[in-house]
Amino acid sequence: MKCLQLLLAASVLASATPQKRANCKDIRDAPITRDGPTLLLNGKPWKAVGPNVYWLGLDENVTPPPGEPYYAPLKASYPTKGRITEAMAVVKAMGGTSIRAHTLGVSTGNPLSVMPELGKVNEKAFETIDWAVYQAREFGLRLMVPLTDNYDYYHGGKYNFLRWAGFNLTQAKDANNPQIQQFYTDQTIVASFKDYIEKLVTHVNPYTNLTYAEDPTIWAYETGNELLGPVWGDMNCPATWVADVGKFVKTVAPNKLFVDGTYGVNKEHLGIQEVDVFSNHYYPASLQKLRSDLDLVASVNKPYFAGEYDWNLPAVGADPLPAWFKELETSKYVAGDAFWSQFGRNIPNCNEFVQHADGFTLHYGDPANSATVDSRVKLIRKHFIKESQGVDIAADAELPVVPCPVPAPGAKGEGLT
Ligand SMILES: *[C@@H]1O[C@H](CO)[C@@H](O)[C@H](O)[C@H]1NC(C)=O
Ligand SMILES: *[C@@H]1O[C@H](CO)[C@@H](O)[C@H](O)[C@H]1NC(C)=O
Repeated sequence: MKCLQLLLAASVLASATPQKRANCKDIRDAPITRDGPTLLLNGKPWKAVGPNVYWLGLDENVTPPPGEPYYAPLKASYPTKGRITEAMAVVKAMGGTSIRAHTLGVSTGNPLSVMPELGKVNEKAFETIDWAVYQAREFGLRLMVPLTDNYDYYHGGKYNFLRWAGFNLTQAKDANNPQIQQFYTDQTIVASFKDYIEKLVTHVNPYTNLTYAEDPTIWAYETGNELLGPVWGDMNCPATWVADVGKFVKTVAPNKLFVDGTYGVNKEHLGIQEVDVFSNHYYPASLQKLRSDLDLVASVNKPYFAGEYDWNLPAVGADPLPAWFKELETSKYVAGDAFWSQFGRNIPNCNEFVQHADGFTLHYGDPANSATVDSRVKLIRKHFIKESQGVDIAADAELPVVPCPVPAPGAKGEGLT
């Protein structure tokens, strides 16, 4: 941690160049920084490429053995350490550098959450999050973490904060109810959201003895996932709220970059100082939409991150991925991208992959993959390696084998069950 302390001290010296400031001995202790539209690691351009792995903190796809924590109404359970470690090994094998991971930050409203009830912290919920952050660090990966969700999913989101404040709202009946805007405007709710953020980022990870705020493994916090107002696509996440939450995140976690998690690039947000990165999601991967988003961020010289995209092609029509990747690789405003979404084996059972039926599940190394799927996985890997190492590999380069179970780096004697 010396490095981070040095960085903090050096950053107040006007004369310190970004290169000097970020000259850390252990690269894992160097925070990702931003210079205009470019992200930097130790003074060199850095791209955040990888998957979304939303289940690292809490999952909804596996029924655990009897006696293990399980919240049946939402099918919520903690993933095994082995599953978490394998996810990191797969990202590494694919040449990725970063994972966008909802449940390392979105964890409210059910008994297995970080905050099951308003203001209450469930220490047990940190075990998987701690392990995920530690393993990402050991694999040399970084994490982008949303802080809430627009929807009422098993892992929680804005509706928990609304209900805690006495607004009897659910996504199922109230997605179009103007009252949901209270999440952004009711000062009691804003204060409880900030309290949640502070409790989350000041948690000390026993594997590293660092708080999440201190650990540069988490390179970015995002306001939330696909934040909207009462009309689908309205991008109605007030700029004043984004600026306010950004200011707060930068107070409690000064070395993080801050991502605007509005669903779409809202023109009214472009001037928000606290926002380091803008983002959008793509179903399908539309080049036209990407280009118009890039034009918007270019106007304020800030980076852009494609936070989710459909990697799984339509059954008919041309493959959009090659042109999509080319655009991402050639624009100087692209900070990175994350496909939706990665699952792995049901470790300790190495013979079975965890299924998630949204149509976008990527299983690396699954013998059941079609040739088309494996060729897309190779294309994604080619893209990641281009972005992370600047190297062009063959489109049909063999996928490295990821063993099962994966030995956990850094964890002496840790059983991966
Ligand atoms: C919340 O609303 C639902 C129907 O919209 C109603 O059935 C329920 O009783 C309400 N709960 C409270 C606490 O008001
Ligand atoms: C964390 O700190 C405790 C108490 O000082 C120490 O016993 C432990 O070895 C430390 N762990 C790590 C991973 O540094």
